Amino acid sequence: MKYNKQLIVALDFSDEKACLDFLDQLNPDLCRVKIGKELFTHYGPALVSSVQSRGFEIFLDLKFHDIPNTVAAAVRAAADLGIWMVNVHASGGRAMLEAASDALPDSQAPLLIAVTVLTSLGEQELKELGIADKPEDQVIRLASLTADCGLDGVVCSAREAPLLRQALPADFKLVTPGIRPAGDKADDQKRIVTPTDALARGSDYLVIGRPITRADNPGAKLASIIEEIQAAS
Ligand code: C5P
Repeated sequence: MKYNKQLIVALDFSDEKACLDFLDQLNPDLCRVKIGKELFTHYGPALVSSVQSRGFEIFLDLKFHDIPNTVAAAVRAAADLGIWMVNVHASGGRAMLEAASDALPDSQAPLLIAVTVLTSLGEQELKELGIADKPEDQVIRLASLTADCGLDGVVCSAREAPLLRQALPADFKLVTPGIRPAGDKADDQKRIVTPTDALARGSDYLVIGRPITRADNPGAKLASIIEEIQAAS
């Protein structure tokens, strides 16, 4: 299997120095990185800039969800940071998704993807929110809406990827967390998939955190995951 920099390392650190020391052990030609709400709330655009100056492309995982005008402005602000990918909540609805998509300049725009159903929500929680459908049906509905509104892809579980791959255009990006190399511990993830399996199921990008951030030698761990991908036929 070809390795095209599909790995996105989740920078789930609370401390800037720990984060940057960690990045100094990784090669930016071999992975991208994800900055989420905790790091961004603590350190903001200055951290984005420090990470970029080390050569890394950034997925800014802030999951915007607000009225269309506000989300459009937030997505534009993210694009101004020169990041590679940004996301919104698909449940913000058509007008919000279209406004977000329209807000991005055509050239050098970050990829714009959407979160469908949070994996922390099951059938019971959806019922409480007035959604009678099964989570997977709601995922397909929101992913189809996302594609229809011109966004580039969705975050989804690798287990849902084959279904979404069938239902959506071939260039629609599927970004999947919950990845564990063969033999690694699951941590708090309930339904894990190996990197190779996730790519075989149709994922385009794999978000992977603790197996790399908590490894004794993060650079070697990243290299071993890439080898695992390349060894798969
Ligand atoms: O350490 P681990 O590989 O489990 O980290 C996965 C990353 O992906 C974390 O940043 C987590 O917040 C994120 N994520 C997830 N499941 C989702 C969406 C995002 O684990 N459904």
